Amino acid sequence: MAIPDAALERAAELRAEIAFHNRQYHRFDAPKIPDAAFDALMQELLRLEKEFPQLLTATSPTLNVGGPISKAFSEVRHERPMLSLENAFSREDIEDFWRRLQQKIGDHEVTLVAEPKLDGLAVSLIYDKGHLVCAATRGDGETGEDITANILTIGDIPQQLEGTGWPSHFEIRGEVFMSREGFKRLNECALLAGEKTFANPRNAAAGSLRQIDSRVTRERPLSFYCYGQGAYPSEDLPSHHYQLLQQLSAWGIPINPEILRVTSIEGCLSFYEDLMKRRPTLAYDIDGVVYKVDLLADRERLGPPTARAPRWAIAHKFPAEEALTRLISIDIQVGRTGALTPVARLEPVFVGGVTVTNATLHNAEEIQRKDIRAGDQVVVRRAGDVIPEIVRSLPDQRPLTSAPFEIPTHCPVCGSKVDHSPEETILRCSGGLFCPAQHKESIRHFASRKAMDIDGLGEKLIDQLLERHLIETVADLYTLSANGLSALDRLGEKSAENLIKALDESRHTTLPRFLFALGIREVGEVTGRLLADHFRQFEDLMAADTASLEAIPDIGPSVAQHIVTFFQQPHNREVIRKLLDNGVFWDPLPARPATEALPLAGKVFVVTGTLDGFTRDQASAAIITLGGKVTSSVSKKTDYVVIGKEPGSKASKARDLGIDLLLEEDFIHLLKESGHEPSGT
Ligand code: IVH
Repeated sequence: MAIPDAALERAAELRAEIAFHNRQYHRFDAPKIPDAAFDALMQELLRLEKEFPQLLTATSPTLNVGGPISKAFSEVRHERPMLSLENAFSREDIEDFWRRLQQKIGDHEVTLVAEPKLDGLAVSLIYDKGHLVCAATRGDGETGEDITANILTIGDIPQQLEGTGWPSHFEIRGEVFMSREGFKRLNECALLAGEKTFANPRNAAAGSLRQIDSRVTRERPLSFYCYGQGAYPSEDLPSHHYQLLQQLSAWGIPINPEILRVTSIEGCLSFYEDLMKRRPTLAYDIDGVVYKVDLLADRERLGPPTARAPRWAIAHKFPAEEALTRLISIDIQVGRTGALTPVARLEPVFVGGVTVTNATLHNAEEIQRKDIRAGDQVVVRRAGDVIPEIVRSLPDQRPLTSAPFEIPTHCPVCGSKVDHSPEETILRCSGGLFCPAQHKESIRHFASRKAMDIDGLGEKLIDQLLERHLIETVADLYTLSANGLSALDRLGEKSAENLIKALDESRHTTLPRFLFALGIREVGEVTGRLLADHFRQFEDLMAADTASLEAIPDIGPSVAQHIVTFFQQPHNREVIRKLLDNGVFWDPLPARPATEALPLAGKVFVVTGTLDGFTRDQASAAIITLGGKVTSSVSKKTDYVVIGKEPGSKASKARDLGIDLLLEEDFIHLLKESGHEPSGT
């Protein structure tokens, strides 16, 4: 079959692009596009070559595993080629893999070893009489770079093996990687020193390993996990891969503990799902899992490798966390407290398993620092359940007409001047409740679940109530009637009745909820509870001055000032009076139990990372209710550190200080033991 011109052209284009990105990635450790975008180019070329086999040439990138080898290091010829892995992206791909295995080795139950696929770089280590004598990168798969001097600086990697019984000469392979924490620290230092930062932990690890001066490598937080053997005397090999890993571990070689034997497709998929769920809590980046035939004799029966990969293993990739798309515009949203937040409007893109159309840009300064502009091609990242963010833009592809982002000087909604306080990176509209955006957000906040909990009063409805002047302030909500509401668009009689019922029910509230609902700056749920607990009588809080507020533990000068200012404003006092006149009430608080008598009295907690079952405020509230204290930084005075996902440096500091670390389940256990009942507030 003749090859259509379009296919010829596209293949040439793809090869040129792949070669360019290969160079960026392997030689300069500075990729221009996300891995998934590179994978997509490769997949497209593979598809073309499959459809038109005449397109395939010996030099096609689809047949070559790695990048070119650098001239900076001396060359090492691998005793056995270092291959890559075939990729699977779906359940069907895994079913195909199992089918192929069943065809060749289906005469007995097949066991696979499932392992995390670390996102670092492959290295080969050679041990001679128990000594590490040579370390090399993969290079082009046949020949790598000699990085022995640099590998010797990695504390994780034994220079001399422990125990006995190792073969006199053998090779192992594994991944050198950088933990997320190490990467963050490295980039922070680079920023401070005005040096170039790395795009991700993988590039940081690669850049660190390819340093000419190994003293630089020594300073870099590199780690290593071994995942298999290279050239290894067959008489010394255990029968199974799993046993080999245990054996290597006994000699002091680090092995990833997250390894499991599975015997079915379902087993593979549940390992995959589980790890994908826990991915954000792992200390290092992974981009999928690898399934490998456990019995080494079975591997032989599967036949020789394809051009790039063995037949006994497959990489099951996670949905990409990064993708490329176009930034349509940068909109500015105005929050309840006037904070201006830039939001990126994107051409829809599938990333991290969902279609993303909006992403956060953090703050205006960051947009300028990263020089992100409307119209740019941008890298969008969505990791776990974290809000999608723009990592960087690709300025090379930017239209000549594009203009840098300008920090707004006036509120885009009400036109008031924007304040930019020197202590904060946040820009704030100075319009207060005069600003329609702030006004609307304050009503939404008032109605929200943790505040007055007015079911059914959503954003659209609030918009209409304001537009039609049915309400001016939150107090007017309690004068609405089902009749009046039925005039609103798309609000049926039943919904109107339900809303009135919800409003009526919300009248009976609690003092902490009421305080939170008022929307005083810096008064969140926890502070609301703290204030209610301290003052007990609302009138006493309204009359408090800054000195008496600051005397309360955990109330700083800034919150104290916000509280006093809030209650001084006649408008706020008027709204509060009307709310109470319109029937809002709460049960008087019972006499305060002596804090000393409470189960967690005297115990100081720090909460860090994301918990599954609590917001950080809820966890703090539970601790405070039981008499404990919550502080924000870890010190010798801390008794417990509660750690959620992505705990950050507080957890390591606590570990260094020998403070008790509580995982979420330990924390729940402690709360239960202390008689805490989830309040559902
Ligand atoms: S086994 C014959 N196991 O993924 C290839 N590779 O995309 C043997 N990788 O070059 C590789 N974690 O750098 C294997 N648990 C793991 C891995 C792993 C990460 C890397 C490795 C390999 C690349 C292939």
